[in-house]
Amino acid sequence: MCGIIGYVGAEHGDDALEVLLDGLSQLEYRGYDSAGIALADGGINVHKCQGELSALKSALPMERLGGEKIGIGHTRWSTHGPPSDANSHPHTDMDEQVAVVHNGIIENYQQLRDDLTDAGVEFQSDTDTEVVPHLIAHYRDEGLDYEAAFRTAINRLEGSYAIAAVFDGIEAVYAVRNESPLVLGIADDGYFLGSDVPAFIKYTDQVIYLEDGQFARLTPTELVVTGENGRTIETSIETINWDPEDAGKSGYDHYMLKEINEQPTALRECFRGRLDELTGRIELSELGALKPDGMVTFVACGTSYHAAMVGTRLLQERGVPAQAFLASEFDSDAVPIDSESVVVGVTQSGETADTMRALREANSVGATTVAVTNVVGSSAARETDEVLYIRAGPEISVAATKTFASQQAALTLLATVFSDQYSRKLVQELRAVPDQIQSVLDTSSAREVAETYHGSDAYFFIGRGYHYPVALEGALKMKEITYTHAEGFAAGELKHGPLALVSEDTPIFAIVTGDGRLAEKTISNVKEVEARGTPVVAVTDGESNVERYADHVLKVPASSAVTSSIVANVQLQLVAYWTANEFGRSIDKPRNLAKSVTVE
Ligand code: F6R
Repeated sequence: MCGIIGYVGAEHGDDALEVLLDGLSQLEYRGYDSAGIALADGGINVHKCQGELSALKSALPMERLGGEKIGIGHTRWSTHGPPSDANSHPHTDMDEQVAVVHNGIIENYQQLRDDLTDAGVEFQSDTDTEVVPHLIAHYRDEGLDYEAAFRTAINRLEGSYAIAAVFDGIEAVYAVRNESPLVLGIADDGYFLGSDVPAFIKYTDQVIYLEDGQFARLTPTELVVTGENGRTIETSIETINWDPEDAGKSGYDHYMLKEINEQPTALRECFRGRLDELTGRIELSELGALKPDGMVTFVACGTSYHAAMVGTRLLQERGVPAQAFLASEFDSDAVPIDSESVVVGVTQSGETADTMRALREANSVGATTVAVTNVVGSSAARETDEVLYIRAGPEISVAATKTFASQQAALTLLATVFSDQYSRKLVQELRAVPDQIQSVLDTSSAREVAETYHGSDAYFFIGRGYHYPVALEGALKMKEITYTHAEGFAAGELKHGPLALVSEDTPIFAIVTGDGRLAEKTISNVKEVEARGTPVVAVTDGESNVERYADHVLKVPASSAVTSSIVANVQLQLVAYWTANEFGRSIDKPRNLAKSVTVE
């Protein structure tokens, strides 16, 4: 997930530099590995560097800039190639005829890169994006006009993209989208484009949402949207009624709620190019030929540890021995790992000190180490043998939400590949998860549940199998953002002690899906608490009769145990969010916590 912006000012329009820097500051939530701009004023003037936008601002030769009315900008979340000056956008062709910014993933870039290299192109970066300016330049050299060269190059791309380009020699920004967001803005004295409305809400609230396959041409006098066939499309202009102050959160009150709502998109990104529905195959080319020949050991902390528990069960069910350790408890003197072992660190940030220590210990005995992480170029990504990216996009809120879903999904892929047990049914179920989450987001009554029970003495969560880590995660989310005691239990453990805690003032959330053995047993545990007057909230797909014993029901679509646990967790995220909201807590930055814990 990167952020892009473009601007074409009319005669009395604003300075492009100011508009682009303003817009990028609103888009930094989409990534901040590097930032860059290209100003078009006769020639193309590119400025870019690794690091946050502030680094770009300090590097700009301000005395030589100003007055330009056309430009594009980018803030990067690395996917191909680590954060570096060279990998920063915009990218240009060899003669700097065209500069391009891109958000998305070009799946066939390697083939295109090989073809262009054979034709004599020298690449400057490791990115997938750089093929685009070289392709456009190729078609310009063949004699196509600006727009035709742009369109022909785009037609060669496979994957997801929102792309904007400026040319040397013409006052225009060309843009296109396919499966990555792109919105256009219309003001009296200029036209804008951005990955999201916040990029330009300060200047206009009149927007057009571009659709997949649509192209846009922005010039000082007109904004034209065309279809794949080149014909002009009549588009409708919408008025946005957000307060510009809230713009970075796309209109949500908190990043946490925004990120909860981003889960369908995050999961689609995680699956992109990795699932084959026809054969049931899952491709994780980044893992190469790695297949464990013995125990797989997971190390992780907090939410990531809950995902590691899911990974462990997935492998065990597929006949691969696996174990999960809290990274802070992992000790290679006590745990027999050696050069034959595979050790998987699950870490959103890739920087957590406890997890890094465990991975380094594993490296030191010669084990094969794998990072399952969200952050390209992170310590975990650099120091392990193999990396599986979860591709959730930046997560700003301290409480992990979308990255947990993406970790669960990525570990399902990893377990399938490690065990060599492919199934079309699983691939179909995985593909259905983003829509299932969307339906939960659209219909959830979690807010009413939160309003009913906020102020309770404590909250308990129970589940079995794949729902046990989700019970732990539900409790972690609740405690970290509401500051109220919450605890998750394996449902069967309740009777071995914790039952003494339950009262009329300690609602219990039971995750029960399907109507199999585990569901039946969890329902018995539900009956035990219900008989003691404890309010029960069932998170269920309605396949069993748990609703009979529940005071409230949070519905999820029916699916397999592992995929329904990803979806069920969303209901618990929403309950925690709305409960914390009732208390007016500092939801995105809970007290005493940090997003990345770099001390042991
Ligand atoms: C909870 C949360 C933490 C992290 C933990 C590990 O919402 O975010 O429990 O999961 O600190 O962080 P990573 O995954 O970055 O290693």
